[in-house]
Amino acid sequence: MKARVTAHARFTLADIDKRLYGSFLEHLGRAVYTGIYEPDHPTADENGMRRDVIDLVRELDTPVCRYPGGNFVSAYNWEDGIGPKEERPTRLDLAWHTSESNQVGIHEFAEWAKAANTEMMLAVNLGSRGLDEARNFVEYVNHPGGSYWSDLRRKNGQADPWDVRLWCLGNEMDGPWQVGHKSAAEYGHLANETAKAIRAFDDKLELVVCGSSHSDMPSYPQWEATVLEESFEQVDYISLHMYFENYEKNTAEYLALPEKLDRYIGTVSGVIDYVKSKKRARNDVRISFDEWNVWYHERKNDAKRMKEWGWPHAPALLEDIYNFEDVLQVGCILNTFIRRSDTVRIACIAQLVNVIAPIMTAPGGAAWKQTIYHPFHFASRYGRGTALRLDVDCPSYNADVAADVSYLDIAGVHDGDAGTLTFFAINRNGAEPMEIDISIEGFGEAKSIEHTLIKHDDLEATNTAENPENVKPESRGGASLSGGKLQVVAPEHSYSMIRVQL
Ligand code: AHR
Repeated sequence: MKARVTAHARFTLADIDKRLYGSFLEHLGRAVYTGIYEPDHPTADENGMRRDVIDLVRELDTPVCRYPGGNFVSAYNWEDGIGPKEERPTRLDLAWHTSESNQVGIHEFAEWAKAANTEMMLAVNLGSRGLDEARNFVEYVNHPGGSYWSDLRRKNGQADPWDVRLWCLGNEMDGPWQVGHKSAAEYGHLANETAKAIRAFDDKLELVVCGSSHSDMPSYPQWEATVLEESFEQVDYISLHMYFENYEKNTAEYLALPEKLDRYIGTVSGVIDYVKSKKRARNDVRISFDEWNVWYHERKNDAKRMKEWGWPHAPALLEDIYNFEDVLQVGCILNTFIRRSDTVRIACIAQLVNVIAPIMTAPGGAAWKQTIYHPFHFASRYGRGTALRLDVDCPSYNADVAADVSYLDIAGVHDGDAGTLTFFAINRNGAEPMEIDISIEGFGEAKSIEHTLIKHDDLEATNTAENPENVKPESRGGASLSGGKLQVVAPEHSYSMIRVQL
């Protein structure tokens, strides 16, 4: 199979916001306890944080991390996680039916974020709580001192404010499963009033209002329209979520799902434009796709287990073990975000450690990279710069979810500072290798080319503590360069990163 691609220096889409490669940590399962925090672990630092995990997160280079939820945040009292650890209450977490010891709270997370070289993106509880707790939390986190909450932070050991810019106004408030679920009009009103209050206090905040939990929600996309009609002028982003499943074990259908993601983004962009015009608004609202990932491997088991247990503390939950097929999917999802980076400015892989995550840990033991760590790592490290509008000519197939799904999924990024062009290419065809010709125009001379490949003969291949490098990238000589034309051979069902030095 052959594919022809043209990249031209003048055909650009957007300067990518590096926060497109954000992540997410929720008080859920073992994400926090025995994930990032394990005071007895041999690698624990002075704050009880696992250094082996910090090293893997630093390598992943995720610029922002959303915290503390997720569904968890909708019944969370942020004040439970401050002050002396021995005085912090244990609470029952209604979202996941577990106990929360509150040994990690905002101070510990902030220390961890600094060590992991990532910015905090914080969520306030607009489920069981409201405007008042939100404004107190923002004051605690961002005010220098001389007020009740900022002085309490100082007393608790943090003299300087953390100065967190990015705040989520609740989580998935359209979902009936959410503690304190609301109608679109109720939520839109509350989000608007909360945004006004916290902006009055700090006008540099960037605020994210909840959109739909997924595009099959019965209230979608009217939810977005109503919420934005209430809050458009007070917010900067609308949040979308999507998880990808392959229960049917149908690879072609599964790998077509990013087309649905693309439609979702396109529809919500249209709703944003509609509300902006209707309100004659001057500001812009963009998309924060702050939960996305593959999530199905353990989902049904987990739902059953949760019904049967009491209130365990930090049980294994949502510990999907990813396979090679998921590498292809995560590559296609990230490519979709790059191609939509004019509208999608922020995106967070959900989640970061142990819970549907690229990083896994064993309590007291090793930390290792799941298969999906690799495509995320490549996009995060090399997908920064200007997204290109590529012209792609390639055979396609029809799936239930979309017609004309190109066998080649490709995104291109020009990094002017580094003088590089990077292409992320997934061959969705499981039967044939693909010869990809890429013509690069208007960028000056291409000096060298590197091809990194992720390929495994078994779509179900996984990485485990015992065999952490079963699925991993390897350098390939299978690319050539001559007279501004690149030629790459992408094996059947494979992920390639092609880097060109200009
Ligand atoms: O990431 C797991 C859960 O998925 C989050 O808590 C929730 O926001 C979503 O439904």
